[in-house]
Formats: sequence, structure tokens, C-alpha cells
Amino acid sequence: MATIDSLLKEKRRFSPSTEFAQKARISGEAAASKLRALAAKSPEKFWDSAAKDLLWAKPWKKTLVWKPPFAQWFVGGKLNLSANCLDRHLDGPRRNKAAILWEGEPGDRRTLTYQELHYEVCRFANALKSLGVEKGDRVAIYLPQVPEAAVAMLACARIGATHSVVFGGFSSDALRDRILDAQAKVVVTADGGYRKGAVVPLKENVDKAVVQTPCVKKVVVLKRAGCKVDWNDGRDVWWADLVHGRSAVCPAEPLDSEHPLFILYTSGTTGKPKGVVHSTGGYLTQVAWTTKHVFDLREEDTYWCTADVGWVTGHSYVVFGPLANGATTVMYEGAPLYPHPDRFWAIVERLRVSIFYTAPTAIRTFVRFGDEWPKKHDLSSLRLLGTVGEPINPEAWLWYQKVIGGGKCPIVDTWWQTETGAIMISPLPGATQTKPGSATFPLPGIVAEVVDKAGEPVPAEQGGYLVIRKPWPSMLRGIYGDPERFKQQYFSQVAGGTYFTGDGSRIDKDGYLWVLGRIDDVINVAGHRLSTMEVESALVSHPVVAEAAVVGRPDEMKGQGITAFVTLEAKQAPSDRIKDELRAHVVKAIGAIARPDEIRFTDSLPKTRSGKIMRRLLREVAAGQGVKGDTTTLEDFSILAKLQSTDEE
Ligand code: WTA
Repeated sequence: MATIDSLLKEKRRFSPSTEFAQKARISGEAAASKLRALAAKSPEKFWDSAAKDLLWAKPWKKTLVWKPPFAQWFVGGKLNLSANCLDRHLDGPRRNKAAILWEGEPGDRRTLTYQELHYEVCRFANALKSLGVEKGDRVAIYLPQVPEAAVAMLACARIGATHSVVFGGFSSDALRDRILDAQAKVVVTADGGYRKGAVVPLKENVDKAVVQTPCVKKVVVLKRAGCKVDWNDGRDVWWADLVHGRSAVCPAEPLDSEHPLFILYTSGTTGKPKGVVHSTGGYLTQVAWTTKHVFDLREEDTYWCTADVGWVTGHSYVVFGPLANGATTVMYEGAPLYPHPDRFWAIVERLRVSIFYTAPTAIRTFVRFGDEWPKKHDLSSLRLLGTVGEPINPEAWLWYQKVIGGGKCPIVDTWWQTETGAIMISPLPGATQTKPGSATFPLPGIVAEVVDKAGEPVPAEQGGYLVIRKPWPSMLRGIYGDPERFKQQYFSQVAGGTYFTGDGSRIDKDGYLWVLGRIDDVINVAGHRLSTMEVESALVSHPVVAEAAVVGRPDEMKGQGITAFVTLEAKQAPSDRIKDELRAHVVKAIGAIARPDEIRFTDSLPKTRSGKIMRRLLREVAAGQGVKGDTTTLEDFSILAKLQSTDEE
């Protein structure tokens, strides 16, 4: 019994170059298979040995205690995340190595060596203590993408406070809800941050939020944008004043492996935000291992993950993963297209970035602006590319490979979630032959399967639900304050302690895994359950299409019909002829069943601030109902108004 019909087939293959493979940490398919086999025999043993790469204050007694759905890893062990990211690099040559290479949107720059970062973190940790922050307290961090965001996160980790980073693009209401849910004692913010040339009034948003959050005792304000701010004497304190003259001696507190490191709210594309809770030891073990092996990280790399620290990708792969490995991590404050669509490429050229990790939504935007922007820059320093956040359509993958990677860089398409904490499914770059659009295989130590409603594996080439069968070290430990929702959301669909990802997926006859998007987005056309992602991929493979989002709309005959929202390439004018061409194109790529009933052209699509298309809202627009659902995570409200005013065909 198939649960999703998967109809799109991709035939192209890419192997790592011999040069890359030879030097890789996991070199060649034989080495990878050996590692996979070993890990498959005992995932626990595999992770046990990965955990030994970290610095522990006290060794663990038991690798895993699993009382479904609650897992504990490295039980009895004690460690400190900030000591792992900082202190242990200070004894050798890494002491004066750049930990963070930062660029602000206006073009200002800073470099922090490991020594300097350690100094800043220790002083800020002492500063937090002076405000009454203790082990176990929650601290909300609402900052732009500046080095102080990393400093604040690491300072919390140093003293055992649990941080909750709230993305600087969120509104004061969203901030208020997150502060209240976590009962944060302190908020760390800035006067303002830069975005697309304008100043985002962060402090003003905090002022509005905290009048409704009695739990907040102090607000620490970093001077970043220099804009005017209101001041509450008893509550507000400038970052600079707070750390001035403060001691830089602050021993890292040994914490239980299971100590809650952070809470991060995720609404995904539906519903009320959930406070996803992550641990210390298990989380860092998998984050550190994946950073090292999925990105084939080496001492001399300049590593850049473009995510904001407000997202899980920013936590795991801008801050903690690279620093735990003693790497140099790049941080950029602003918008990718500011002041021109080559901002990223200018940074890659200047810093000789060698590893570059970004989102498909960004790649599709760059495709739309044209090759001339990356072509202005020398990108030859790049040796590995990565993507995360959404299924990447093969056309965007191929463009990334050719235009950005110069045809020589392996691409790691990494599947994971806020809830998984770290990468779960991904190529191993020096070993895996890739297929554009496939995240390939579960990493060693991860047991992922594609199953039907009854929890039984579906045959090859058939779509089903992506599940994780066994606990993994960086899995979420719960939803803050709501164990019932945790069970309900992730462990009620399939019995026996199997984690339900909410994604649809298919495994092809070669064993490659293809993520088909969220189960909630599946469209049911005349009894066929179609993946939106496949229809979108087919549309985007047409030369005039830059981006597409596909949703179901009620249809009396077929159950659901297909509405496609299409953004054309910058130079292309919409027309009925193009609509006909696109319909024919989809029919050719997938079949008549996937033929869009309606095509609407739009300049942009409603997205979350992390770039995910909000199909839930598009469904409401397509059904002609007007949008009623939660829109607090929407990036640009004007898009919705425009979409709703677009005439039907
Ligand atoms: C989607 C981001 C296909 C997926 C780290 C998942 C992907 C959700 C991929 C989690 C990928 C992420 N291929 N789909 N490589 N990576 N997704 O919590 O639907 O922001 O469930 O975490 O993004 O998004 P989140």
C-alpha cells in the first residue's frame, strides 16, 4: 500500500573527484560501507566512540538509556559545551587562530581568535552571573547576527543557563510568547540590527514584549546600530557597561550530559510554536561528528554556513559544530542580496571560503538573478558545498554544482530538523555518488526508514513516511513544558518508539532516499497522493521558471485539483502561452495526473523567515477562502495581499 505516489525520476549521477576522495576523512565508498556496517551493528557503540572526541569532565557510565520516547545519552557523564568549543583549543596553535570571521551588513568587519572569544565569553558569563542568572535559568537572546550572539550562547552554556535564541526578524509578539513559554529571566538584545540597509528596532520590540513578561528581570543591550532607544533604568543595562572591568576568569561548570543546553522554538509551517529542548552531551557529540565528517572539515578550512543563529542550523553549524572542531567560522550579518546580488560571492572571494553551506531557497534566488553575479568573483577556493532546509530541486542543484562549485565540488544535501539537532541523512562527500535532489543515505549510526501508515517499510520506489527507528544522540529531549505534545507529535503515529518526522519520502532501487516534503502538503488528486515537491521540481526545470509552489485546492471531481504559484525568471513576462507550456512540461516530466489545473504568476512566494514556502497559506489562497491561519512566521505580509488580489484564471 503506497502512501505517496512518487513519479519524478532523476537519472544524473555525480561522483567525488579522485582528488577530493583521496584526501577525504572518509575516503571512498569502501571505507564508507565499512563504517556504515560497523555502526549498523551497534549504533550505540558508534556514538560512544564519537563522544570520546569531546572533552569530558567526568566519563559516562551508560551510553544510552532508552525509555521510549525519552532518551538519555552518556548518562552519568559531565562536560561543558563552552569548554569544548573554547578552552580545549587554547593550549596549542589554535589559540591565535580565527574562531569567528565576521562581516556586518554595512561592511564593517571583525575577527575573534579563540583566545579572544574565550575572553569575551568568560567576561559575559560573569556578567550574567552578576545579574542573578544561575544554572538552570533561561536566558532569551534576541540579537542580530553579530559575534556577541555566539558570545551570549557560549556564556550561557558556560554557567549552565539554558538559552532560547529568538530570531531577530521576529515581531515583539512572537518574542513575548517565546519569553513567556520559557520563563526567561534575562533578555539579551541590541539597540538595532541591519537588514537590507535599514535598521531593525530590536530594543523597541523588546520594550513592547517585556511589559507583558513579568519573568524578565533584566535586559542587556548591545550597541550595534547606534539608533535611539528608550531606557528603563532599573531593568536595562548596556552590554559594554556590564562587562567593563569584569574578570575574565570563569571556570566552565561541569554539567550533566543531559543538562538542557537550549530551547529553540519551531513552528514549522503550521501551528503554535513548540519549544524544542536539546541536551548537552548527546547534542554536541552528533553536532561535532557531523560537522567534521559531512563537511570533511580540516584545520585550514574557511567554513561558512550562511544560516542565522536564530535557526537550528545557526546553532549547530555556525556556532557549536565548527567551534567544537576548532574551525574558522564565517558570520555575515545581513541580507544575501544587499547591496547587490553578489554579496555572498564577494565574501567567498575575500575570505577564500572553502566550505559553503546554504539553503535551496537562496540558491533559487541566485539562479533567478543570473550567472553574471557569481561570475564577477573568484570562487576557486570552494571545495565543498552543502544545502539544508528543503528538498532541493535538481535544476537548482545542477546550477549550484556548475556555477558556484565550478563543477569540482561535491554537494552534501543534508536532511535534518530542529528536532533532530544535527544532520541525519546526507552524502559522505569523499565517498557517496550523489544524485541531484537526493539526500542519499542515513549517516552511520542513524536508522531511518520509509514506512506506510501501519509502520511497515514500503517497497523501493514507493513513497511513504520518513521515520527514525532508533534514538540518536542529538534528538530533542522534549517540548518545553509539554511532554504530552512531545509524545503526540512525534511518537504516536508509529508504535514501538519510532520517531515520526512528518516528512514524506521514497527510497529508490539503489537505496537512495528522496525527501518529498511535508506530509501535510501532499495533494490527493483522484486517489493519487502527489508530492508537491515533485510537481514543483518539474515546473522549475522549465527554463523560464525561477520558483514554484504547488498546493491542492478543493475539486468536486478529483477530490483535489492542483494550483501552481509560479515565479518567472527576472526577464520573462507572464502569458497564457507560458501557462500552456508549463502544463505540457509537467505532463511530460511526471504524467497527466500532475497537470496543474490552475497556474498563477507571482513575483514572490510567502515564506517563513528561514525561507520555507508556507503552503498552508497558499492552500487558503487557492481555495479562495481568505487567509485565516497563523501568519506570525511569515516574512513579508504584502505578498499575501498581492496573492489574494490576483484574479483567478
Ligand atoms: C525540510 C532545518 C529535504 C524537511 C535543519 C524537514 C529538508 C524540515 C532538508 C526541517 C533536505 C530540511 N531535503 N527537506 N536536505 N532539510 N528539510 O526544523 O521537511 O527548520 O522536516 O530544520 O525541513 O526544518 P527545520
